[in-house]
Amino acid sequence: MEKLVIKGGNPLKGEVNIQGAKNSVLPILAASLLCEGQCIIHNVPIITDVDMMLEILRSLGVIWQRQGHTLIVDSSKANKYQIDDKLMRSMRSSIFLLGALLGRFNNALVSRPGGCDIGERTTDLHEKGLKSLGAQFGEKGYMVKAPNGLKGAEVYLDYPSVGATENIMLAACKAKGVTVIKNAAREPEIVDLQMFLNKMGAKVSGAGTAEIRIIGVDKLNGCEHRIIPDRIVAGTVLLATAMTKGDVLLKDVIPEHLELIIIKLREMGADIAIGENEIRIKGTYPLKPVDIRTAPYPGFPTDMQPIMMVGLAIAEGTSIVTENVFDARFKHVGEFRRMGADIKISNKTAVIKGVKRLIGTYVEATDLRAGAALVIGGLAGENTTIIEKVEHIDRGYEKIEELFGRLGGNIIRIKE
Ligand code: EPZ
Repeated sequence: MEKLVIKGGNPLKGEVNIQGAKNSVLPILAASLLCEGQCIIHNVPIITDVDMMLEILRSLGVIWQRQGHTLIVDSSKANKYQIDDKLMRSMRSSIFLLGALLGRFNNALVSRPGGCDIGERTTDLHEKGLKSLGAQFGEKGYMVKAPNGLKGAEVYLDYPSVGATENIMLAACKAKGVTVIKNAAREPEIVDLQMFLNKMGAKVSGAGTAEIRIIGVDKLNGCEHRIIPDRIVAGTVLLATAMTKGDVLLKDVIPEHLELIIIKLREMGADIAIGENEIRIKGTYPLKPVDIRTAPYPGFPTDMQPIMMVGLAIAEGTSIVTENVFDARFKHVGEFRRMGADIKISNKTAVIKGVKRLIGTYVEATDLRAGAALVIGGLAGENTTIIEKVEHIDRGYEKIEELFGRLGGNIIRIKE
């Protein structure tokens, strides 16, 4: 079992390059299955969710090679459309493979992805969209086939689901005719996916808006692409710097992807300067309270909710955080309370009364972003924080102890 041991109190200082976006590379790896050629993908973070996706792709006959942060993926010999149940359950994002498998083979045999620690995470919108294109869902598990191939259709999403939008885009690329996705999710990772698909020869337009149009093509070829920076990892570093009264230059970021996060941090009192693809932040003390309501992009990102909450836990005053995207994304509150946070929950709302400081103790990561929030709580807190179940954090953060250690944080990983 690995743990992180953090001694709080050091202000974070220096420069850091932000890793590639987990939520961009995962659908893009699924998309590489659509082409019978070789894709070269740069700026791929070294995280366990990518390892899981690569293991699934290998089980389908995809050949890949990792060279540092570059992946060479060759799907020309992919010849299977059944994904082992254990692999499917290992990672929720494997659901994107449904659209890619249908797009490549007109067949898919996958199990329903499990729920997870942040809520129900149903897949009704994925199914509705793929059925509109002609996919037939079997009873048991997810035997999905398109015996007459996939045909373009107009799909209205009742909720702008990121995964459902991406799954339909993947299935529609080689469908016959035109597909229009209405009320599509608008996240930057969807724009990155569109860029990748079009480099392979697809005809996708409108990503980043609520209406995405896909004109089906017969064949897709290999391409080369660089993954966009991870806006949530960048937001995590920004909060950590603000909370430790540090001074950090973030490089290789896209400031417009962090617009609302920057607005909120400025309201909290942080001094932020924006460059072309850099952000300089200086933390001040005490942080001011702010109210947060999570929403689909361009609203405040739900993935930043636990991270922002730990910052507000030491703000001077009361903040209100409303979680509108997931139905159970407050599991981290119990662990924050163990560090002395004063947080009351009622339904989707958390009322956070700022305390002077968080006190280090034993805590455990309940999911990826909650784990990251505990890390920055420990960096800003007093005494020593010991975080267990760090495997959750490693799913999305590349060597988080090095990320913050390089900035002067006193954080080490121990194996027990
Ligand atoms: C993606 O998950 C991200 N994951 C999540 O990041 C992120 O929190 C989420 O989008 C919202 O931004 C990846 O991109 C790999 P959704 P996804 O479908 O696609 C409901 C992280 O920490 N819904 O937009 O699963 C669902 O229950 C992770 O990096 C349906 O009702 O998100 C949820 O309440 C966590 N029916 C809401 O929509 C469906 O068919 C948002 O889900 C699909 C979703």
